[in-house]
Amino acid sequence: MALDSKETKFPIPAGVFAQTVTEVQHYTDRLFRFRMTRPASFRFRSGEFVMIGLPNAEKPVFRAYSVASPSWDEELEFYSIKVPDGPLTEHLQKIKEGDTILMRKKPTGTLVNDALLPGKRLWMFSTGTGFAPFASLIRDPETYEKFEEVIVTHTCREVAELTYSKNLVASVKDDPLCGEFAHGLSLYATTTREDYPFMGRTTDLMTNGKLFEDLEVPPISPDTDRGMICGSMNMLKDTKALLEEFGLVEGSNSKPDTFVVERAFVD
Ligand code: A2P
Repeated sequence: MALDSKETKFPIPAGVFAQTVTEVQHYTDRLFRFRMTRPASFRFRSGEFVMIGLPNAEKPVFRAYSVASPSWDEELEFYSIKVPDGPLTEHLQKIKEGDTILMRKKPTGTLVNDALLPGKRLWMFSTGTGFAPFASLIRDPETYEKFEEVIVTHTCREVAELTYSKNLVASVKDDPLCGEFAHGLSLYATTTREDYPFMGRTTDLMTNGKLFEDLEVPPISPDTDRGMICGSMNMLKDTKALLEEFGLVEGSNSKPDTFVVERAFVD
């Protein structure tokens, strides 16, 4: 069992959970996923993020990580980039089962169902590790209670970088909790630097209409569609501008509207 007082070389800072890694899976030399124990008292909404660190210094470095598992899961899952010389990820990428991970106690974030007005179709736009909050939301039955159709877009440089999202979306359909609701879920995966059946940045594919043609759906309309965006700063800026052209308006927890934005924090 993971305890706050767990023995580590450095003392566990106040207000921080110390949890135990239960599983690590590497996808490429740039991407991996890990799971860890969940503190009994920890509550979050699917799509929120937390601050993660390692007990490797008096004052550990913390970085924001979207929880990739849904709020009902008894463990916590995270999807991470590996940055050479990244203050956290250069160490985090070496974690093994049984290691300790630190997590600040308060989750937060805007990529939550509550920050959107009701709608028919929900778009989740992601690049790279920006898929993580959507890995949580597409495993939450509440998402399918609120939206008939859920379309996740995921753009990566290379085909191998789509493995996590492709496997996850496929597995949701067999999930005992939300499989029966998830018939409205689809993934639109594209690459930009390696041959793949669907290629190009989602932003370009929305601008030229190919994304809607490929999916055989009408273009985005504020009457029916809602959006969530998670990726690099530039991707957020460009996707936000496009959604605004389609007539959507950015919302927040305190003022729900037709789309919300979160940046993929680890760089
Ligand atoms: P590209 O290869 O054309 O830069 P990164 O690994 O740099 O975070 O990028 C992840 C994916 O996001 C890449 O496929 C990249 O395409 C794409 N991307 C980068 N910037 C944008 C943007 N402004 N809008 C949409 N997609 C982007």
